[in-house]
Amino acid sequence: MVETHDTMAPMGIRLSPLGVAIFCLLGVGVIYHLYAGVISNRVAAFRQGSNVDLRDLLALSVEAAVQGGKEVKKVREENTLDERTKGKTKEGASELMTLGDLRSHKKMFYLMKNTYPALKVNSEEHDSSVGEDEVWNRDIPSDILEKVPEGHEVPAHTVTVWIDPLDATQEYTENLSQYVTTMVCVAVDGKPVIGVIHKPFTGDTAWAFVGHGTNVRARTSYISSSPKVIVSRSHAGKVKSFIQDAFGNTTTITPAGGAGYKVLSLVEPLPHDTAATSDQADVYIHVTFIKKWDICAGAALVEALGGKMTTLKGEVIDYSGSEGNSGGLVATVGLDHKALLEKLPNWVPEKH
Ligand SMILES: *[C@@H]1O[C@H](CO)[C@@H](O)[C@H](O)[C@H]1NC(C)=O
Ligand SMILES: *[C@@H]1O[C@H](CO)[C@@H](O)[C@H](O)[C@H]1NC(C)=O
Repeated sequence: MVETHDTMAPMGIRLSPLGVAIFCLLGVGVIYHLYAGVISNRVAAFRQGSNVDLRDLLALSVEAAVQGGKEVKKVREENTLDERTKGKTKEGASELMTLGDLRSHKKMFYLMKNTYPALKVNSEEHDSSVGEDEVWNRDIPSDILEKVPEGHEVPAHTVTVWIDPLDATQEYTENLSQYVTTMVCVAVDGKPVIGVIHKPFTGDTAWAFVGHGTNVRARTSYISSSPKVIVSRSHAGKVKSFIQDAFGNTTTITPAGGAGYKVLSLVEPLPHDTAATSDQADVYIHVTFIKKWDICAGAALVEALGGKMTTLKGEVIDYSGSEGNSGGLVATVGLDHKALLEKLPNWVPEKH
C-alpha cells in the first residue's frame, strides 16, 4: 500500500493530506452550525419558559379537568373508592381521600406540570410518583377559539395554578355524584383569571377567562330582598341564624356539597343539568375556613360574569400563595354585592 496517509471519506472518496485538512475544516463548520442551532433552540425554549400563553393555559385547564373527571367517574362506577381519612378539618370533621381524588390528581397535576414545568401548581392532593407521561395534545376547543381569538402571554412567574382533583369528596363517598366537580384555576399576580369547573357525572364543563369570555351565562334575574342562599351541607346549621339575621326568616337556605357546585348554582343551568343534578341560588355564603383550590375557579367564573366573590367583610381574596382563606365567603353574580354585604351581621370566627 502506498497511500497510507489517505483517509476514507464518506462515499468512498480518497483524500490527500490537504483533502483531509479541508474535510476537517468542513466538519468543524458543520459542528459549529449544529451547536449554534442548539443554542438558539435553548434561547427559544427559555423564552417560552419565561412567558406563558393564557389561552393555551385555558385549553389545558379544560383538558385537565375533563381527564381528571374521567378518573373520578371510573373509580365511582367501579366502586373502588378505598376511602380513608387524611386528617381533620379546622372544624374537627374528618377529611376524606379516595382513589378517585388520587387518580384525578395524577392526571391533572402531571398534564399541567409536563406541559409547563416552570409553573407553580397547588393541588389539593400530593403523591410521590414521578415520570407520569401525561402530555397535552395542544388542541384548543373551538368554543374557546371563537370567544378568545388571540393569545395572551404573561410572565410565567406571575402565574399560580390551583387544582382541585375532586371537590365534594364526602358527597362522592355517599354517591351524591351531582355535587362532585373537578376544578382548575389560573391566578395571575394573585387575581383569579381563568376558572374551569367540570361535572364528571354529567360531562358539562364551565370555563371562564376574565375579560375575554366564558361559556356560561348569568341568569336574567336575581332576588336581593329575600335571596335564596346556598351554603355548605356540612355546616348548614351554623349559618342558619346568621343568614336569617341578614335576610329574614323566610329566606330559603339550600344546603349543598362542593364549592364548585355552589358557584354553578348562581348561573344559568349547564346543558345537562336537571332539577335533580343542580340547584339555583342568588347568593353563596360560607363562614368557615376554606382552601383556595375550592374557590379560585369559582371566583374567576363569577368575576367573568361581572359578579364578585369576597370575604364576609368584602375583602378581595389573594390567590398567589398557598394558604387558605379564613375570612368566610360571599359570592354573587347579578346583585349589588356591596349592598348585600352591608346586610350581613358581624361574623366572629370560632376559636379552635
Ligand atoms: C350510585 O348512584 C347511581 C345512580 O345515581 C346508581 O346507579 C349506583 O348504583 C349507585 N352506586 C352505589 C354503589 O350505590
Ligand atoms: C326568626 O327566627 C328566630 C328563631 O330562629 C327568632 O328568634 C326570631 O324572632 C325570628 N324573627 C322574626 C322577625 O320573625
